[in-house]
Amino acid sequence: MKGKILVVDDEEIVLRSCERILKPDGFEVSTSASAAKALELLDENMPGENASPFDVVITDIKMPGMDGIEFMKRLREKDPDISLVLITGYPSQESIKQALALKIVDYLPKPFSPALLAETAEKAVEFRRKSRKPEAVDFGPEMAEKLTGIIEAHKGRPGSLIPVLQEAQELVGFLPPAVQRHIARGLNVPVSEVHGVVSFYSYFTMKPKGKHNVRVCLGTACYVKRAEEILAKLREKLQIDIGEVTPDKIFSLESVRCLGACGLAPVVVVDKDTHGSVNPVKALDILTHYQ
Ligand code: FES
Repeated sequence: MKGKILVVDDEEIVLRSCERILKPDGFEVSTSASAAKALELLDENMPGENASPFDVVITDIKMPGMDGIEFMKRLREKDPDISLVLITGYPSQESIKQALALKIVDYLPKPFSPALLAETAEKAVEFRRKSRKPEAVDFGPEMAEKLTGIIEAHKGRPGSLIPVLQEAQELVGFLPPAVQRHIARGLNVPVSEVHGVVSFYSYFTMKPKGKHNVRVCLGTACYVKRAEEILAKLREKLQIDIGEVTPDKIFSLESVRCLGACGLAPVVVVDKDTHGSVNPVKALDILTHYQ
């Protein structure tokens, strides 16, 4: 079995099509005709804290009652690591912004082909597997004590969450779910609020990063100028995939959707340095400056 997928859409034909395409491809597929019923299904089957029974939820954005954005927010509260895929017709800028803040894995524009659905489902399951890898942090008593010290220093002050997260990230290097839960308990705020802030600000990261973080833009302006080739070259050179860190911890690799420098496309950002008009050869040259 490749992975467990829940499809949520008020159109019966979409649910049946997804089943027809994904089941023979090796996925276990459940369906729900509304967000409210899907949440009930999740509650009935939650195997533990922050762990849903599904690897991926594919949801329509426009549904009667609760829409896809509100539904995904609720899902994130239940399971911060679940992979989310959004089915869209003509999304507004606002809904795109909200969906990105919720860290969706990808969009499926309606109507989508069987091949695109299967490919997106595989990518989303893979994403889930990676996020479920054991946390690469020794969050032992010593680290917990230091973290508690940070929390105590800010507790009770207005707007204390962001400075606590900043200092926690400096201490641990990133903000995995265990750290977020510790902060939520210490500040007496919901885990969903902590997770919401961590997901919203690109400054915060839930994944460990290398000494130098390489971000390749795959937004439209960069994509049409061979950004995928640049990414492939960097993956080959560094021998890591997106979201991974090199064994020597020097480089980590990320892909992003628009860095706000489209005029310089294709763009690669290393730490805080923006490199424009990059090509696959130049991308490798850039790396040498950071080695
Ligand atoms: S699309 Fe790459 S910077 Fe905007």
